[in-house]
Amino acid sequence: MKKTTLTESFVTSSQSETEKIAFDFADKIKSPAVITLEGELGAGKTAFARGLINGLGKEGTVSSPTFGIVNEYKTEKGQAAHFDLYRVSDNETLEMAGFFDYIEKAVVIVEWPDIVRSELGENVIEVTIRQLQNNNREITIKR
Ligand SMILES: Nc1ncnc2c1ncn2[C@@H]1O[C@H](COP(=O)(O)OP(=O)(O)O)[C@@H](O)[C@H]1O
Ligand SMILES: [Mg+2]
Repeated sequence: MKKTTLTESFVTSSQSETEKIAFDFADKIKSPAVITLEGELGAGKTAFARGLINGLGKEGTVSSPTFGIVNEYKTEKGQAAHFDLYRVSDNETLEMAGFFDYIEKAVVIVEWPDIVRSELGENVIEVTIRQLQNNNREITIKR
């Protein structure tokens, strides 16, 4: 069966709007899944990740991984793993952080996914966030 790609776009004008788009999108995710987040520093990738994780049924704080490269959450829809690969350049670090285990069993959200792109199959949900004027962001979700 050939995969068809579905693309949706949104324009948000605040962080909470971006979180809301992601929160609602969480309904469409079935674990295991990989969601890549692309966009410049400050685009809103972590805001999107926060909305998504909250939408999976995890209340409370979601922030960028500070120690290490991954934060793990227990959600109503199972395990979620939020990676920030900005500083990662080798496979060993990924392996140590459990990346390859998580993609088998969890909802995996990846900021700066370039170095893992080739490891991921075609069943990846690609989110791109582009900064427009002021606080506007164009969010494109391809799945
Ligand atoms: N429409 C918007 N969507 C998301 N974040 C926004 C938006 N407008 C302004 N911001 C601000 O941009 C910053 C995004 O930060 P963050 O999510 O950490 O970005 P990234 O993870 O891409 O570096 C926050 O300070 C947030 O308040
Ligand atoms: Mg971030």
